[in-house]
This record gives sequence, structure tokens and C-alpha cells, in this order.
Amino acid sequence: MSTWYLVSVFLHIILAAFWIGGMLFLPLVILPGIRQHPDRIAILYKTGLKFRYYGWIATTALFATGLLNIYLRGLPFTWKFFTENQYGILVSYKIFLFAGILAISGTHDFFFGRKALEEMQTTDNSRLKTVARWSGRINLLLSLVAAFIGVVLSRGGTLP
Ligand code: HEM
Repeated sequence: MSTWYLVSVFLHIILAAFWIGGMLFLPLVILPGIRQHPDRIAILYKTGLKFRYYGWIATTALFATGLLNIYLRGLPFTWKFFTENQYGILVSYKIFLFAGILAISGTHDFFFGRKALEEMQTTDNSRLKTVARWSGRINLLLSLVAAFIGVVLSRGGTLP
């Protein structure tokens, strides 16, 4: 087990903690904390943009360290491995999940989330706010599933 492999898995875990932690922090800490604040929308806009920026850095680096984990573990990048090997199949599931996470993040960050904040300036019962909220929740769920698959992969990749 090379030092670089350990560094790659370490970075992967820290990035996963930042990504999932951020998605938990917003609804559980920021939103309730600023509910009565007069500048609520401005704070939400600013913190949302900041997390969007670092979120895309984190997800890109998660993909890079994910591939590095496979490479430094000495595993082959072959179609056969990703379709016939138990470990490889789990990684394939994770990559599909990850593609879904990126697609939802994209629509959330660059459409629903932004439009919802604009709409919230004028009305309190923004329909887009509900869509933005639910896309965030679905992404959190998918990321938790990705983390669980990761934990199985790190322990050999076979489900009990
Ligand atoms: C939202 C995205 C992701 C999250 C939250 C996530 C989370 C995790 C976690 C928590 C672990 C377990 C670490 C441990 O128990 O030691 C892990 C391991 C792993 N992840 Fe991810 N991951 C993500 C995306 C990816 C992607 C896109 C890939 C592949 C390209 C990937 C490949 C791996 C591999 C190969 C391991 C096993 C590392 C080892 O050898 O121990 N991950 N991941």
C-alpha cells in the first residue's frame, strides 16, 4: 500500500466530508439560523454562491481522487473489470450515481437555485424554492449512497 494511495484516499474522504457536510450545514444550520434575519435572501444568495464555487471544486477533486484510488490500488481500467469484477461493478454504480449528482447539481446551481432566489425577492411561496429544496435533498441522498458504496469499496468491494 503506497503512501500516495493513502494520501489519495485521505483526500477523497476529506472532500466527501466537505461536500456532504456542506449539504447538511445549509438546511440544518444556516436556513433555520437566518429565518427571521432581514437580509435572509442576501445571506442565502452569498453563502449559496460560495458553496456552489467550492462544491464544484470538491466534486471535481472527488472524481480525480476516486480514479486515483483505483489506479494506486493497482486495478485495471478495462471494460471487463468495470462490468465483470465485483469491485469494478460497484465503482461503475458509483460513477453513474456521481453523474446523476453532477446533473442535479448543475440544474440546481445554475437554474432552480438562482431562479428561486430571484423569485423569493417578490413572493414567499416560491414554487421554484420547493424544486430547489428537493433537488438539494435528492443530491444529499445520492451522495450518502455514494459514500456508503465507497466504504464497501475500501473494505474489498463485496457486499455481505
Ligand atoms: C459524491 C461523490 C463521492 C463521495 C461522497 C465518495 C465517498 C467515499 C467514501 C466515504 C469512501 C470510503 C473511504 C474509506 O472508508 O476509507 C470512498 C472510497 C472510494 N471511492 Fe468515493 N466518493 C465519491 C465519488 C467517487 C467517484 C466518482 C469515484 C470513482 C471515479 C470514487 C471511487 C472510490 C474508490 C475506488 C474508493 C475506495 C478507496 C479505497 O481503496 O479504499 N468515489 N468514497
